[in-house]
Amino acid sequence: MKSHHSIRRTLLVRLVAPLLALTLLAGSAAYALAQHFSDSVLDQWLYDTAISLVNRVRWENGRASVDLSEAARSILEWDTVDHVFYEVRTSADRQILGNTILPDPVATALKAGTHIYYEASVNGEPVRLVAVSISRPGAETVIVKVAETQRKRLILSHQVLWLSVALSLLLATASAMLTWYGVGRGIASLQSAIYDVRTLHARAPLTPIPMDNDLPQEVFPLVEEINNLILDLSTAHRLNQRFIADAAHQLRTPLATLRVQLELALREQDVERHTRAINDAVEVLSRMGRVLHQLLTLAKADEDYAKADAHQSVDIDQIAREEIERRLDDAVAAGIDLGYEGPDQPVQVSGDAALLGEAVANLLDNALRYGAAGKHITVGVKSAPAPEIYVEDRGPGIPDAEQSKVRDRFYRIPASPGDGCGLGLSIVEEIARHHAATLILHNRDGSSPGLRARLVFPNSVA
Ligand SMILES: Nc1ncnc2c1ncn2[C@@H]1O[C@H](COP(=O)(O)OP(=O)(O)O)[C@@H](O)[C@H]1O
Ligand SMILES: [Mg+2]
Repeated sequence: MKSHHSIRRTLLVRLVAPLLALTLLAGSAAYALAQHFSDSVLDQWLYDTAISLVNRVRWENGRASVDLSEAARSILEWDTVDHVFYEVRTSADRQILGNTILPDPVATALKAGTHIYYEASVNGEPVRLVAVSISRPGAETVIVKVAETQRKRLILSHQVLWLSVALSLLLATASAMLTWYGVGRGIASLQSAIYDVRTLHARAPLTPIPMDNDLPQEVFPLVEEINNLILDLSTAHRLNQRFIADAAHQLRTPLATLRVQLELALREQDVERHTRAINDAVEVLSRMGRVLHQLLTLAKADEDYAKADAHQSVDIDQIAREEIERRLDDAVAAGIDLGYEGPDQPVQVSGDAALLGEAVANLLDNALRYGAAGKHITVGVKSAPAPEIYVEDRGPGIPDAEQSKVRDRFYRIPASPGDGCGLGLSIVEEIARHHAATLILHNRDGSSPGLRARLVFPNSVA
């Protein structure tokens, strides 16, 4: 089974990795900045210490000396954490003052009157140094060097490092939790909407989902689609129910008639009347059979509509001639001239031969029923401008006012002769729709009226 993906989990996974990277980046930036500022502050202290020594340098006859009391010396060296070293030396390499020998700046010429920071080690311990060069015209140049071990710097940088790592982790965790919680809240609103819909549908199935409650906007398109589906379903459902009711009604009447006639036949002693009652019953039965057949055809057309890709190439010219053949005896018996009009060669459309035959049969049946008075019926086929099959009679035609109604299921023009049930044209219409064809009911004009029922197919691309 395919496991369903969770929006919450997906969001979390997609957010957490970038969030972690971002907080790590921010953490390192904060660390670097803190490092930079603490370094510059500590360097400034170092420089200030050097300057306090520089201020003590005196010159007598071009010879430098430092005037530093014992007390001042101990203040200079005093530091609870680090060791402070200093040295004052002339350019002639004479040490004037110092508590150690300090390394000179490497390979960098310290210009007179400037200072420089550098790193080295004293007694095996890394130190940070500043060297200040002072020169007097006509006097020897003096270099003041102050060094400090780096313990304070190290402690500080460790503290800053841990702090920024802790802060980053805290930030990442908090963001992940907020995301989880926030998305959860969003989904909770969806769940309450689902609950609403469930209670609504428990009360009234097939009602559209109201779009006004606190539905998240993101699911609106989905809900709209579902509502369309519900609408289609309820329409189909309503049509089906009406159809079943109509069909039941159509069959109930002949069934009742059948029962009366059979009861009559049972009681009838007179052979002739007995036979007539039985004949009537058989007549009703065959009518019922016809209605049932039509209902089934309609159901089949509906069902096949769903699998219209099962279409094949069908020769409508052959269908026309087959249907004429089938009803020729009836036509002759009724004194009707039933003829064919067409190219006498195959006219191909894409479709279902059985359904198309059924459609033509229904049109021909109508022509024989309602247009018989004209004594002429033609079943015709055309290949241009579009494939077409038609049935034409010289009967009364269909009044304009009835044109649209006659296609409705179970509709018959009031006082129509015969015992149809009003399904014929709706079957033809359904089959036409199934073939993307159009049913045109055209009243002949001119000297003799009549109906030409045309089934016009789409021009195939092939
Ligand atoms: N060729 C025709 N000429 C005149 N009226 C027709 C013709 N075909 C159909 N009609 C009218 O249309 C109505 C509907 O036809 P149809 O759907 O086939 O149902 P049914 O034939 O069972 O009455 C018929 O009752 C009839 O009045
Ligand atoms: Mg009919």
